[in-house]
Amino acid sequence: MRPYTFGAYSKSVENSKNTILQQYMKAEYDLLSAIYDKKDKTFIDLGAGYGRLLPLLSETARNAVTIDINPEMFTELKRMAMDHRNCMALEGNMQDYEQLLNGLDIKKPVVLLMQNTLGTLESVDSYLDALNVMKEIAKRYDGEIVISLLCKEELKHFGIQLYTEIAPMTGTPDLKKTDFDKGLLVTNTGYVSKWWSKDERKQIRDFFGGRLLKEVVTDNYHIMNIKP
Ligand SMILES: C[S@@+](CC[C@H](N)C(=O)[O-])C[C@H]1O[C@@H](n2cnc3c(N)ncnc32)[C@H](O)[C@@H]1O
Repeated sequence: MRPYTFGAYSKSVENSKNTILQQYMKAEYDLLSAIYDKKDKTFIDLGAGYGRLLPLLSETARNAVTIDINPEMFTELKRMAMDHRNCMALEGNMQDYEQLLNGLDIKKPVVLLMQNTLGTLESVDSYLDALNVMKEIAKRYDGEIVISLLCKEELKHFGIQLYTEIAPMTGTPDLKKTDFDKGLLVTNTGYVSKWWSKDERKQIRDFFGGRLLKEVVTDNYHIMNIKP
């Protein structure tokens, strides 16, 4: 399991002083806030962490289902969900979505995979499995997806700067093991994070098919809202 805890994650990520990271989180926030008809929709946050987005989802959505696999993160996620009456926290692997979502109150879901969770997945054979989970849920319930990715081209600059700053949580970037061509950041504690090339982001977009509802693209991050 990755070395995340609520305390370390909120300190090094949510409260980071890194300007690009803050712009990235604001861009995610703005895109979610602008989802059409969101008061009538269920947000399903896959790999929700400790619930960074849960207050926003509670305020703006009909209801929210949040899922995380990491017991440390889940403890805080569950606590936050208890404070927000229209939110629910489920501990488990997103791959088991059929059992996890069975019988829940779900309406026109917006399926989320935020903050480059696709690049740091656990207990999933391939990232394609996670994309498939998103597409299946969206198709089954007539929903849409939001996927938020970090761009490989900036791993050399923003990526190394970011992981140097959050080294107390993830370890220091190991420049010998980091593969900039493949977009794989590796730290001295063995933490790996995949960042996505322009071609890979296009393949991800093509995998979902359907209609692109909204998109935010910068050199550093790429966020897509798609109706598969
Ligand atoms: C990079 S963090 C992002 C957290 C959150 N999405 C956010 O934006 O603040 C990735 C999260 O995904 C969770 N995760 C990774 N693989 C998962 C899986 N197979 N099923 C459920 N959660 C998973 C991790 O435990 C971690 O909390």
